[in-house]
Amino acid sequence: MNTVLVGAQWGDEGKGKIIDVLTDKSDYIVRYQGGSNAGHTVIAEGKKRVLRLVPSGILHDGKTCVIGNGVVMNPLDLIEEIETLRSTGIEAKGRLWISTRTQMVMLYHRALDKAEEAARPEGKKIGTTGRGIGPAYAAKVNRSGLRCGDMLAENFLDKVREQVEETNIRLKELGAKDSDLAIPGLVVENGQIDAAATVATYAAAKERLSPYIRDTVPLLHSAKASGKSILLEGAQGTMLDIDFGTYPFVTSSNPTAGGACIGSGLSPRDIDCVVGVVKAYTTRVGEGPFPTELFDADGRTLAERGHEFGAVTGRPRRCGWFDAVVARYAQQINGIDYWALTKLDVMDVFPKIKICVAYEIDGQTTRDMPCSADALARAKPVYEEMDGWMCETSNITRIEDLPPKAKAYVERLVELSGAKLGILSIGPARESTLRIAL
Ligand code: IMP
Repeated sequence: MNTVLVGAQWGDEGKGKIIDVLTDKSDYIVRYQGGSNAGHTVIAEGKKRVLRLVPSGILHDGKTCVIGNGVVMNPLDLIEEIETLRSTGIEAKGRLWISTRTQMVMLYHRALDKAEEAARPEGKKIGTTGRGIGPAYAAKVNRSGLRCGDMLAENFLDKVREQVEETNIRLKELGAKDSDLAIPGLVVENGQIDAAATVATYAAAKERLSPYIRDTVPLLHSAKASGKSILLEGAQGTMLDIDFGTYPFVTSSNPTAGGACIGSGLSPRDIDCVVGVVKAYTTRVGEGPFPTELFDADGRTLAERGHEFGAVTGRPRRCGWFDAVVARYAQQINGIDYWALTKLDVMDVFPKIKICVAYEIDGQTTRDMPCSADALARAKPVYEEMDGWMCETSNITRIEDLPPKAKAYVERLVELSGAKLGILSIGPARESTLRIAL
């Protein structure tokens, strides 16, 4: 059984925890897009871990983890992550494989990300995580990117030097200042990257990462042929998809289920099930339209109770009511079979809860997602209101024990968004999870 897990909103739906829960039924766990802009938080046995590149399956003995070709992988971040895991007694070597086709995010991509964002005028900023994601994917499409397989070749460091020199020309055009380029490990002077220091950094990285790099296509296909289960983990979310999200306020990859095949080398016929992770309310980090955003005390309550601060950047997340237009759209784009509904417990204190069931745009009511960010920015949410349950749900261990009003809320969300309920999460820990159908 091969499963794709996707975020149904703007990321931060609690995917890390759900992947961790589903890992017990999987043998291989594959990341298929994004990079260290993601932060998958897992809390197990009282320990909190944030994984940015390594699939969280690494926390479970006997599971094989793959960083697929659709990912843009920052070698320096990966080395740090492998070391952090090692210091807590988890050895990745022999269990973690990186595809030879995976593109690398280099220090100079991070420099470009920061310099380009600094050069964008107010109102045009994307609010990127500054992790070099956009420039690394741009290099891939431009056919100038470096792949992990290149790291194993003789001329790797010459290519790094060439790329630094090319980037320096662009940084000059952008008028980059040293203060824009404060990036750990990057040596800059007068807005220019030091090529020799950068080459030395990657010479060391090559030594460290070479044993993890291999062609992962035969690995996954032979796993499949021998009846192993593969879990494909998406990062970010549907509304941040480069094609289907709120372009241009999106990430540069395809977090949606289609991206799982492109980013791993499995075929669409190999996918048996799609799980959508969706929060019982909505959040967004960075810029871009967000129809149900709240600027009042209810929004602050969601932020505080949901601990809505970015796992990677620490930025506060914008919060709002559940948007069923988003959820229904995500169900359609991804072919979601089951929902993993997270953070229901955050809603325990609201006497009244709103659900957005449609948008009113320029006097027209619609349940379809508009394709332009400008139209979405003009959308006024059409709300349905439900009674809150006003009691704690985080200690519940059986779905039958949910307060009737909480059950009604969950049923309404599921009904509006068109897939079955598979998992209900009512707290951050692995233990606070009700498995209904998965
Ligand atoms: P980038 O992926 O760093 O280029 O950022 C593009 C947009 O995606 C920004 O609005 C980011 O805040 C958002 N973004 C990127 N990664 C995540 C994530 O893991 N969770 C939530 N938002 C993200």
